[in-house]
Amino acid sequence: MKERIRQILCSKPDGKLIEVEGWVRTKRDSKNVCFLEVNDGSCVKGLQVVADKACFNNDGLLSSVTTGAAVRCRGLLVESQGQAQAVELNLKELELVGPCPSDYPLQKKRHTIEFLREIAYLRPRTNLIGAVMRVRSTLAYAVHSFFQENGFVYVNTPLITTSDCEGAGETFQVTTLDLDNVPRTKEGKVDYSADFFGKKASLTVSGQLEGESYALALKNIYTFGPTFRAENSNTTRHLAEFWMVEPEMAFCDLELDEEIAESFLKYIFSYVLEHCREDMEFFDSFVLKGNIDTLRHVIETPFARMTYTDAIRELEKVNSQFEYPVHWGSDIQTEHEKYLTEVVCRRPVIVTDYPKEIKAFYMKQNEDGKTVRGMDVLVPRLGEIIGGSEREADYDKLLARINELGLNPDDYWWYLETRRFGSVPHAGFGLGFERAVQYVTGVANIRDVIPYPRYSRSAEF
Ligand code: 4AD
Ligand code: MG
Repeated sequence: MKERIRQILCSKPDGKLIEVEGWVRTKRDSKNVCFLEVNDGSCVKGLQVVADKACFNNDGLLSSVTTGAAVRCRGLLVESQGQAQAVELNLKELELVGPCPSDYPLQKKRHTIEFLREIAYLRPRTNLIGAVMRVRSTLAYAVHSFFQENGFVYVNTPLITTSDCEGAGETFQVTTLDLDNVPRTKEGKVDYSADFFGKKASLTVSGQLEGESYALALKNIYTFGPTFRAENSNTTRHLAEFWMVEPEMAFCDLELDEEIAESFLKYIFSYVLEHCREDMEFFDSFVLKGNIDTLRHVIETPFARMTYTDAIRELEKVNSQFEYPVHWGSDIQTEHEKYLTEVVCRRPVIVTDYPKEIKAFYMKQNEDGKTVRGMDVLVPRLGEIIGGSEREADYDKLLARINELGLNPDDYWWYLETRRFGSVPHAGFGLGFERAVQYVTGVANIRDVIPYPRYSRSAEF
């Protein structure tokens, strides 16, 4: 494959003839020469292309090369006269591959992140979104390499499902029924037997349940795929479609689960620091100052650990400063998560042993009858980045909890069966992949770390 600008910028200016393909970011004229900055998406920086006007503008070619145009440039790689770069291209041949008219929205001025969201199909051509997407890609690679290096099997769990993993009813229904003429049963209910799958189906909120059944055969597995939640939270950390990484380990308890979550996060953060140096420096300068040092600190320091009960004790001390004061039993919300990790611990913290009422049905119940073996990993600035637990491996307890919560055991019949045949203690967790991208890049809004964000009232593009 052809060398990309990222490699070219590090090569020696030895006058060799090279070819680059990319998009013109800026064009600047002086009396005798024209400077094009060409970017090919391989790095933040572009290659400075210097064209001698006398040689190029006879046929108007150079004038028709405008900001946003796609070009192919052949020339000699030489030492740059300018301060901003070590090498530049002394242009010999220019090809205008795709012209770009003057109503191209990304002219050289700063655009607000909100405006860029409206032109999501062009925003990867900006420095910011380009860098985010390269880091996202590397982070995905790091996820796979962490698990593959540790012998985990990558399992692809279904996206269409008939069991609501979190039991929270936040699912998007999948149906081929004619909504203008819905078939009804004698009792007047929707007749799902006439639907495509013969029963009510939805997009998955998590691959965990299916993942568990594979861990109970392959021991250590992970999923990495899209998940869907119809929660109407208009926040900077929620999407309706997001990617989740879900490892599941058999013969594993909550303590080991915590350890794996901690080493996993540290691994992927280090990986990105090492492999995306330039992009990470860009974020450090333009998005969140000091972010690289913060990440290094996170990698080097053990995460704090705290039970839910202790966390509530800490929060109650300063209850008056919260919009939602807490007491034992209340859900820990973003403001509380941030206080715990930013003020109390000043580093990532793993909070464990939550009241069973605020956690999902599948979590292993503690002997106190009140709490479950769940954990959340909270990080400064974002709050929850990982949610996980040891699972209830006991058939009777699991069934009782499903009934207690008013869920339908028939929806979970196969999941219950896994507790009958060689059930073992097992545990796992889910990392919100976009939250991880937000965390490493410092980007404030989750809508800017996924190519085409999906949220309430927004599925454009
Ligand atoms: O805490 P959650 O709901 O846990 C589960 O789904 C478990 N089944 C995971 C497991 O144990 N295998 O979600 C896991 C993570 C959260 O910590 C958060 O980072 C992310 O997924 N997440 C979201 N990210 C973006 N938008 C949303 N609407 C999210 N909901 C959860
Ligand atoms: Mg959670």
